[in-house]
Amino acid sequence: MDVIAELEEARSGAAAKVDGAETVEELDKVETALLGKNSTVGTVRRAMGGLEPSERPQVGARLNEVTSEIEALIAQRKSALALLDERHRLTDDRIDVTLEGVRFPLGSLHLIQETIDEVVDIFVGLGYLMASGPEAELGWYNFDALNTPPTHPSRLESDTMYLDYGDPADELLLRTQTSPSQVRWMEQHQPPVYVVVPGKVYRTDTIDATHLPVFHQIEGLAVDGHIQFSDLKGTLAHFAKEFFGPKTTVRLRPHFFPFTEPSGELDVSCFACDGGVPGCRVCGGAGWLEMLGCGMVDPNVLEAVGYDPAQVSGFAFGMGVERLAMVRHGINNIRHFIDNDLRFLGQF
Ligand code: DAH
Repeated sequence: MDVIAELEEARSGAAAKVDGAETVEELDKVETALLGKNSTVGTVRRAMGGLEPSERPQVGARLNEVTSEIEALIAQRKSALALLDERHRLTDDRIDVTLEGVRFPLGSLHLIQETIDEVVDIFVGLGYLMASGPEAELGWYNFDALNTPPTHPSRLESDTMYLDYGDPADELLLRTQTSPSQVRWMEQHQPPVYVVVPGKVYRTDTIDATHLPVFHQIEGLAVDGHIQFSDLKGTLAHFAKEFFGPKTTVRLRPHFFPFTEPSGELDVSCFACDGGVPGCRVCGGAGWLEMLGCGMVDPNVLEAVGYDPAQVSGFAFGMGVERLAMVRHGINNIRHFIDNDLRFLGQF
């Protein structure tokens, strides 16, 4: 076979071989086979020197043509493969942004906090400030300054959780009520005083459907030049309507607290039966719901903080937050508040 025919054969078979390469690596091999040292083209190139001088120009020209033609085919295939490769990578790596992501459940405020916020808001609307006090409290603030005698049964270790017990002057305890915050506030501020103090309180109660050893109270205190019992009643009547609904009425029953005189307990009319449906699920038919303790600040308390009872008077009240929430939402077991069961918590 003459050289020109060999070159022609190599040329005509090249396109199929080049197109048959499916990867860049395969194409490299095809390139070696078509243009390398041992390929037809390579062999002819090496044999050029042995050709008759008359043949050389024609064979040389054809060799160059065939070489460039094959090179062009390879270059073309190379870019086609690169494009294909890129397309594959794009499909393989594709992130489907329409797929649903991982959902993180959104939390919400605990019902106790929601209740505190709502009550505080009602009093802030009347011009009250909000404050806080320490949960670890001196016996003096929790009892003595609140006119509670050293012999009062609530001071016993069986009722109060002590951090330091024995020396009356140095008693440290977990506050059993938010009332000591009244004293702390008055020590730091001059009248007029209008303040509410929400917070945790502690008692040695065994857990049952209506008791927890740690629960929440909101304390209220108003001290000013002309505060009367009617101010106390009007303020609490307003609060009851705001919290339980506009039809709610209130009544006060006499009671005793060491730090108020007179003292009372406030009942609100049952919002579920409007007073007196036998067997009502909320009030049991009584028509009234026991809500909070209150009274006119005892002059001894005013004196203990350096106020002059001849110049100022005041009222105070304290309510249990769990009880407020239980009554309003018909919750029959106080344990729900601490069980952390989302089926309960998610309802509010
Ligand atoms: N501290 C009382 C209790 O825990 C509640 C209370 C009663 C608070 C009368 C007051 C008040 O401020 O005036 O039972």
